[in-house]
Amino acid sequence: MLRDYASKEAQVIIDSSHDGVIVVDQEARVTLVNKHAKEILGLPDQIIGSKITEFIPNSDLLRILRTGKSEMGDINTIFNRELIINRLPIMEEGKVVGAVSNIKHIDDIQKMEMKIRKKLHQSGLEAKHQLSDIIGTSNVMKECKELAEKFAKTDATIMITGGSGTGKELFAQGIHLSSMRKKGPFVAINCAALPESLLESELFGYEEGTFTGAIKGGKMGLFELAHGGTIFLDEIGEMPLRIQSMLLRVLEEREVRRIGGEKIIPVDVRIIVATNRELEQMTQEGTFREDLYYRLNILALELPALQIRLSDIPELVYSFLEELNEKHPHRVAVFSDDVFSLFKQYEWPGNVRELRNVVERMVILAEDDTITLKDAKFLVEKLKNRVNEKKSKFETEKSVILSLLEEEQGNKTRVAERLGVDRTTLWRRMKKYNL
Ligand SMILES: Nc1ncnc2c1ncn2[C@@H]1O[C@H](COP(=O)(O)OP(=O)(O)OP(=O)(O)O)[C@@H](O)[C@H]1O
Ligand SMILES: [Mg+2]
Repeated sequence: MLRDYASKEAQVIIDSSHDGVIVVDQEARVTLVNKHAKEILGLPDQIIGSKITEFIPNSDLLRILRTGKSEMGDINTIFNRELIINRLPIMEEGKVVGAVSNIKHIDDIQKMEMKIRKKLHQSGLEAKHQLSDIIGTSNVMKECKELAEKFAKTDATIMITGGSGTGKELFAQGIHLSSMRKKGPFVAINCAALPESLLESELFGYEEGTFTGAIKGGKMGLFELAHGGTIFLDEIGEMPLRIQSMLLRVLEEREVRRIGGEKIIPVDVRIIVATNRELEQMTQEGTFREDLYYRLNILALELPALQIRLSDIPELVYSFLEELNEKHPHRVAVFSDDVFSLFKQYEWPGNVRELRNVVERMVILAEDDTITLKDAKFLVEKLKNRVNEKKSKFETEKSVILSLLEEEQGNKTRVAERLGVDRTTLWRRMKKYNL
């Protein structure tokens, strides 16, 4: 039976498809083909009515015509491109009268998957800050940026440490955008912000009906969502031990299982963690898994406190000023030198974030376009209190340790015992006081 060649409608329908489609009759003559299929398979324009074997001698469609069985999801490489091919027989009254091939690029499937993942997760999956946007030309900062660039080129897990407001999240975003994964998602989660059970279901997702209130159809976890990209686990030190074990498994197996689910889902994610806690000490106290610590601490990026890179302050201040001038009605152009020298005396426990807040406050309160000490009274007060507090604590602790060391003739074990701390703590304090 020789079929009529394709109707106009059929041609329009397959031309509108993103897939390559090719149809043959029972004698393997091409009855319908779209542009994509011709491109993908390298077929000539005039092919309708010719036998497919003239162009593809051992076409898989011959097998379908013979067996009448469909073959779904066959992965094939043609002209160096990975394809997913579905082949189906066309049956009429129990007999095979033709066959269809539907061809998709794997790249397209992955792109589509990414789009769906993005749609499902509204809360921004994109990193905004590049490493080159990070301000600071001090040596420590330059080193950090160089190291971050190097780390970005690898795919290993990164641990970013640093005090609050030192730019940990900024660096995590920058690393993602400098990496091979920059086109993939950047998913951030703060492990301290959620109670244990919520953190678990956010990270791993759940299957439908796992618990009351569970969304119909289940929910994708952040690891799945970060597939092909980077997941940033902020404040990792606050992660409960049980979830730490689950994370360890993800690191080892590179796969997740949703809560209440059976299916193992492979995930390809780069993990960046951040903390302002002493994780190493936490492993000794048993609040952080030691094996996890070593798995995470492969590439370590330590961000400096603002206090040890005071030379970056003016540049930071002026960049904040630029931003703030757009937000606030009256323009501030200059900070006087004595304000900068005040800034250099302050210890900035909240680092860059605190500096930003202080600048914003001054801009709002400023009475003219130059900011002078009179606009910085609150900081002067703060500074007075802090300097006194700090000095006295620093001085007493240092002198106590010194005199104990003398009494015990430098025997640190004895000194630690007398202070009621362990040796590591003593060692850390001695380092702090340059002893
Ligand atoms: N080097 C920098 N250049 C420009 N802006 C910076 C820099 N470092 C930090 N910031 C700004 O300071 C603020 C805090 O940065 P970020 O959130 O990255 O810090 P963090 O270390 O994650 O803080 P926390 O520990 O409180 O979570 C942000 O507004 C960020 O844009
Ligand atoms: Mg942060």
